[in-house]
Amino acid sequence: MKILLTGGAGYIGSHTAVELIGLGYDVVIVDNLRNSSEKVLDRIEMISGKKPVFYKIDCCDRTALEQMFSKENIDAVIHFAGLKAVGESCSIPIEYYRNNIDSTLALLDVMKKNNVNNIIFSSSATVYGAPDTVPIKETAPVGRCTNPYGWTKYMNEVILTDAAKADPELSVVLLRYFNPVGAHKSGFIGESPSGIPNNLMPYITQVAVGKLKQLSIFGNDYNTHDGTGVRDYIHVVDLAKGHASAIEYAMKHKGTEVFNLGTSVGYSVLDIVKAFEEATGVKVPYRIAERRPGDIAECYSDAQKSKEILGWTAQYNLVDMCRDSWNWQRKNPNGYEG
Ligand code: NAD
Ligand code: UFG
Repeated sequence: MKILLTGGAGYIGSHTAVELIGLGYDVVIVDNLRNSSEKVLDRIEMISGKKPVFYKIDCCDRTALEQMFSKENIDAVIHFAGLKAVGESCSIPIEYYRNNIDSTLALLDVMKKNNVNNIIFSSSATVYGAPDTVPIKETAPVGRCTNPYGWTKYMNEVILTDAAKADPELSVVLLRYFNPVGAHKSGFIGESPSGIPNNLMPYITQVAVGKLKQLSIFGNDYNTHDGTGVRDYIHVVDLAKGHASAIEYAMKHKGTEVFNLGTSVGYSVLDIVKAFEEATGVKVPYRIAERRPGDIAECYSDAQKSKEILGWTAQYNLVDMCRDSWNWQRKNPNGYEG
């Protein structure tokens, strides 16, 4: 069976490619390399023994997508391609809406023309906004987004759901990721943010490797067990395995289904710093800074539905996440550019 990964050269897509190849799937990657490097393809081969077929295509380009679909006999699509930086989405909102929504519309058109009926979409816990209660179930209210990036995720969920309502052949799986961290244990692939990282774990690993001086912890006066923000960190390899389960599910069902991919456990920023230091033996100097605008106190999943219906549960713990993030950073201090 052949799976198309749009945005497959990126952080989550590359780990999913390794996982799918390991399970015997043929993998085709489409990526415009806006936030990734072609070098990842060799790294995927080093781990899995197989280099995915690669097309450098912008997913908003219908003609290029059509040409690709006519060459490859695709059975299912995982749509990772998208711009994902919350802050940047507030500075260049139109580009975010165009890129993240046009790509989905183009993909759906071309899939329909080619009779491809299975799509898994990378959504995000961001669609829940500031939740009324935690842990968050899939039935919690959505669409209280606070930035253009979040709205693109919400709008794509609506578009895909409507497409499946109109087309009884279509199977849509919406995966709402919590906070992906970690890397493949080989240290060959991992997260390679450009510039100064926005997210906690890459910031910590860059402090640990000496590229950045100290971590700023954004607020210690939240209503959480130690005052710092609480999130549901999930190992990217667990996330990748969740996609393999979602493909199996999509092939057997029609209509739209939504699943949280998280661990159901929340850790604070200070918990992460402590766990990182314990797992790696490397100190992470930090200071307490102002709250970051738009941040919420607590966000973690109830992942029971994924367990019951997909048969998927996260296996890796916080020590694994810290160790593997560090192993990747240590071996690739400049990401794929090194
Ligand atoms: P990433 O930036 O590493 O990967 C996304 C890939 O998509 C990149 O390789 C980029 O070059 C490519 N891309 C972007 N626009 C494209 C286009 N128009 N055509 C072709 N390729 C394009 O990000 P990631 O962390 O791997 O995230 C994958 C998906 O998961 C994204 O949709 C993201 O919004 C979503 N997501 C990520 C997180 C997270 O914290 N990493 C959390 C929730 C959801
Ligand atoms: N944090 C710091 N210092 C930093 C970076 C982060 O203290 O330098 C704190 C934040 O305040 C927050 C926690 O660490 O409490 C996690 O922050 P991240 O930026 O790593 O992650 P977020 O939960 O803010 O956002 C992530 C993705 C979003 C996605 C959201 C929900 O970046 O794209 O998870 O899935 F929408």
